[in-house]
Amino acid sequence: MTQDPKRYTITAALPYTNGPIHIGHLAGVYVPADIYARYQRMQGKDVAFICGSDEHGVPITLKAKNEGVTPQDIVDRYHQIIKDSFDEFGISFDTYSRTTSETHKNRSQEFFKKLEAKGSFIKQEVEQYFDPEANQFLADRYIMGECPKCSNPDAYGDQCEKCGTSLSPLELISPRSTLSGSALELKKTAHWYLPLDRHEAWLKEWIVEGKKNSWKSNVYGQCKSWLDDGLRPRAVTRDLDWGVPVPHPDGLGKVLYVWFDAPIGYISFTEEWAKEQHKNWEDYWKKDDTKLVHFIGKDNIVFHCIIFPTMLKEEGSYILPDNVPANEFMNLEGDKISTSRNWAVWLNEYLRDFPDTQDALRYSLIMNAPETKDNEFTWKDFQSRNNNELLAVLGNFFQRVTVLTHKYYNGKVPNVTVENTDAIHLAKQIEEYKAKLFSSLEQYKFREACNYYMDIARLGNKYLTDYEPWKLVKENPEQVKMVLYNMIQLSAHLTVLAEPFLPFAASKMKQILNINPSLSDATQFELMLSEHQIVETFHLFSKIEDKDIQPQIDKLEQIKLEASSTVQEVLEDSDFESFMKNDIRVVEILEAENVKKSKKLLKFKVDTGIEQRQILSGIAQYYAPEELVGKKVAAILNLPPRKIMSRESHGMILSSETPTGELHVVEIDKNVPNGSRIG
Ligand code: 2FM
Ligand code: ZN
Repeated sequence: MTQDPKRYTITAALPYTNGPIHIGHLAGVYVPADIYARYQRMQGKDVAFICGSDEHGVPITLKAKNEGVTPQDIVDRYHQIIKDSFDEFGISFDTYSRTTSETHKNRSQEFFKKLEAKGSFIKQEVEQYFDPEANQFLADRYIMGECPKCSNPDAYGDQCEKCGTSLSPLELISPRSTLSGSALELKKTAHWYLPLDRHEAWLKEWIVEGKKNSWKSNVYGQCKSWLDDGLRPRAVTRDLDWGVPVPHPDGLGKVLYVWFDAPIGYISFTEEWAKEQHKNWEDYWKKDDTKLVHFIGKDNIVFHCIIFPTMLKEEGSYILPDNVPANEFMNLEGDKISTSRNWAVWLNEYLRDFPDTQDALRYSLIMNAPETKDNEFTWKDFQSRNNNELLAVLGNFFQRVTVLTHKYYNGKVPNVTVENTDAIHLAKQIEEYKAKLFSSLEQYKFREACNYYMDIARLGNKYLTDYEPWKLVKENPEQVKMVLYNMIQLSAHLTVLAEPFLPFAASKMKQILNINPSLSDATQFELMLSEHQIVETFHLFSKIEDKDIQPQIDKLEQIKLEASSTVQEVLEDSDFESFMKNDIRVVEILEAENVKKSKKLLKFKVDTGIEQRQILSGIAQYYAPEELVGKKVAAILNLPPRKIMSRESHGMILSSETPTGELHVVEIDKNVPNGSRIG
């Protein structure tokens, strides 16, 4: 890439189309990408800001199956929801397309064919599990079996969620299909692989030597460790009926792997957009004076830094990304965002619940951006960022300047009649802030940049507080003209610079000041001449009251309560069978005592109907030992003995948990004989 790029191709990770967008996506990818795109446009750069829906992949087919609809139905539904909410939130994509488009299918098939013709793939026959009942090969997630490490009977074909080991389906003991429940057959199938190992040398040179100082350390570090571990061939095709068909006579019943076709989406969407704009898409992908930047979340690093660049390089005519500024994750109110647990703030719901409040969310996501480590969104922080920063610092400054201009000068920029020595000083300060702000943006430090922006408003507030024009106006009206003249100029600079961070406020500010300045005009201090008429002022931001955020907090609270007090998921047959293996029986507590040095544990001697045994239980905070002696309770008896604080515990006393976390033993009527089975 040349030093001074002519064009910017800015991509934002294509969201999977099986659910709406949430604040984690926004903070990680879309807000930073949008700031960057708006900033480069503001600099007068030729920008293609590209995104669209990632509509292939197994999770979409799973969701469709669960709902009894087609994958196309699923992606049609969510594509619309996602597209509309991005639009309303002000993410300024030049195009937002979808990977089910015809152009995309053609471009990805072309890409595959070119690599195939060049001999860039290796083709391997492998044995894979086939479900004879469903008559199809199964993706790893459709296969379950016993984990070879921890014996969890319900490990998935790619991972055991109990012990965390990553697995291949072939390692599972007694694998079964989650589609039909039937036992699986191993069958031969051929796949195309991208031999990443052949590319190690140039990748090392390009990343380890070339990007050490320009890529973010989290991105660089992850790539380096992948490269240090050594790369292996990666399959780029799948036996599936949802995706881009493999364009090859041997490709029947196969599609391109979603991670092969999705990044090509960036290219095909550029192609569609360029056609509409009468531009040449190849300029944005094949010219050295184009800067290609991928905005992604940290879980996408290997695909954008190693695999996609390998595809581009191997194809031969494409440029490589200049940077891949991946963010870490955003948590919500102390917990990881989870789609399945509904632990998220969904963008479409936010837009419904907080109409015309886009900038407040955007600002709080920028100021808490997970740029170097995971960060957290809380509703209280959201409220306080809005009220104490946006409103109290920026909104208040702008309001004071415009209201006073109306009050003293009927909304006309005053003529300065005294020597305006402050202007030189203020101009210098603004220039310094601007330089720092731009430099932060160039380095993808958006939080820092936004802080500099707010510092300019703080500078304005301090200037007003120092002069107190509302008092000074009586004794020295000529000087007040200078003060307000200067602050109107500062407001105009804030208006120009607001665009990347607060696009909605930026357009309101332009409207009120009655200007449409560009950054190139903003090289001098005076952006608004004397006598220029500003219009009636109105609020840039509204106060967010407790009552506005309380329902959101309550909703999350409710989700927590429900998760702790109800059965979490309906069990599948297999889970049901393992549940039934628990031997739950009535036991009588014969003796109970505290365990020394433990605040939590009680030690029991219980009668199981057959024998007496010792069980430990973590309920000391809720019962005095003597309260429990003589009670009959429920216990699981067929667990292997284990040591807790060097004492043996053989079994588990069951207890229920209240919403506040208190534990209560499950008491059984005294008349039921010891050892009676519960179930
Ligand atoms: O992780 C995800 O949400 C993927 N759908 C991102 C794809 S980005 C790209 F390469 F298309
Ligand atoms: Zn396991």
